[in-house]
Amino acid sequence: MRQMQLTKPGGLNNLKLVDVEPPRVKADEILIKVVASSLNYHDLMVALGQIPTEDRRVLLGDASGEVVETGSDVSRWQVGDKVMSACFPRWIEGRPTKALMSFIGDHEDGYATEYIALPETAVTRMPGNWSLVEAATLPCACLTAWRALVDEGDLKAGESVLVQGSGGVSVFALQLAKSMGAHVVATSSSDEKLERLRDLGADELINYRSTPEWGREVLARTGKAGVDHVIEVGGGGTFSQSVTAASFGGHIALIGVLSGPSASDIVLPRIFMKQVRTSGIAMANHQSQNAMVDYLEKSDLRPVISDTFDLADLAKAFQHQKDNKHFGKISITMS
Ligand SMILES: NC(=O)c1ccc[n+]([C@@H]2O[C@H](COP(=O)([O-])OP(=O)(O)OC[C@H]3O[C@@H](n4cnc5c(N)ncnc54)[C@H](OP(=O)(O)O)[C@@H]3O)[C@@H](O)[C@H]2O)c1
Repeated sequence: MRQMQLTKPGGLNNLKLVDVEPPRVKADEILIKVVASSLNYHDLMVALGQIPTEDRRVLLGDASGEVVETGSDVSRWQVGDKVMSACFPRWIEGRPTKALMSFIGDHEDGYATEYIALPETAVTRMPGNWSLVEAATLPCACLTAWRALVDEGDLKAGESVLVQGSGGVSVFALQLAKSMGAHVVATSSSDEKLERLRDLGADELINYRSTPEWGREVLARTGKAGVDHVIEVGGGGTFSQSVTAASFGGHIALIGVLSGPSASDIVLPRIFMKQVRTSGIAMANHQSQNAMVDYLEKSDLRPVISDTFDLADLAKAFQHQKDNKHFGKISITMS
């Protein structure tokens, strides 16, 4: 079978497509024929070697596929079942612990492969009315947006949500927020992408390059009220603007650090004077993923996939992501 491995120290030239024997299942494992994956920013960082990993690591944390074999002790799945990955294969429910934070495609081998054998508990069901390619966009990006808005944010219809940029997490957050009746302010570095965000339902559009003080602009566009929820993916370069943009008692879901891991312009008293609640988020557990799947099955929401690459072209797909040419998700197909 084909498998894409990353040789140390990483970098797109060190992605190697190899032929290996398909794995054998142990008693508690299922063999999955992987049909599709999708790229997340974390995968790009690992591929570039900016997050160091083991030599010959098999990349990619998202996937969907079909169960083609079950071990003798497996009771949860049958041959033919369609499943999707969970970024933290062992975080089934409850609060996070350090031991559960093992990230597939980084701390352990991932889904850039045609077949994978995993414990039956490592995957969840996928929306029954979605294609396998669609489902492979969900486990990291959509689940993170879900946790930010639903589990931590308790989003209510009529509330307002700010999404930053047009990557996987933000586009899913926009779609989920609109499907729940929220008012959405969207930012992007590109006017063309802003128009595409409008087509997805964004109510207010702000170019964060031409309006660097976009926090004030959010206040102006919301009658000085600010937004109830911020999907904070920018990090060091955006957090201070997010505090400005947030409403009194609002919620900032701290998810990413696209513009840097720290900032000197954060004035801490502004956070408590505005009584802004900040949640640190690293994806979510399987219980939350299952709740998201239940919701998606009943909604009209579908992922936005701007580009599709074959596994053999994974380096080209990462370059496309690095060049910021995508909108929403980039799909990877295995065969
Ligand atoms: N904590 C978690 O659980 C979790 C889970 C998933 C992702 N993340 C993190 O969230 C971030 C986004 O991940 P992703 O997979 O959605 O990335 P992605 O699909 O690669 O999207 C990146 C997009 O972010 C936007 N962007 C870049 N710099 C920005 C800035 N300074 N301000 C606002 N937007 C900016 C760009 O949109 P425009 O081209 O429209 O400007 C770009 O297309 C990453 O930092 C990632 O590591 C964290």
